[in-house]
Amino acid sequence: MEPRKILIARVGEIPIGRTKSFRFGIANGIAYNDQGMIKAYINRCTHMGGPVELTKDQKIFRCRWHQAEFDPITGQAIEGEAPKGTRLEPIKMIEEDGQIFGLLILPEDPFA
Ligand code: FES
Repeated sequence: MEPRKILIARVGEIPIGRTKSFRFGIANGIAYNDQGMIKAYINRCTHMGGPVELTKDQKIFRCRWHQAEFDPITGQAIEGEAPKGTRLEPIKMIEEDGQIFGLLILPEDPFA
């Protein structure tokens, strides 16, 4: 199946050190501005698939379900229930006309 272009954000939309969530099909992604470079991941914890969010101090992603922690710059699991050596799945991106797109295979909708 060919990947589809999914709009993540406009260039400059996400402030440094902040995130933006986005949907693709029935799944979610999270984008993080690392000193001007956007990183994007499928928002699915490597423990049991829960959603992560940036902590208030903007230093780590923490899973809402059992509090596993991930490095927002690399996606690597750093603490908690997520198996060591695992990472949030990075999303390949392209920039076109001032917009950042993720190249994603859309998950199938089981109700479609
Ligand atoms: S699902 Fe994320 S820590 Fe359990």
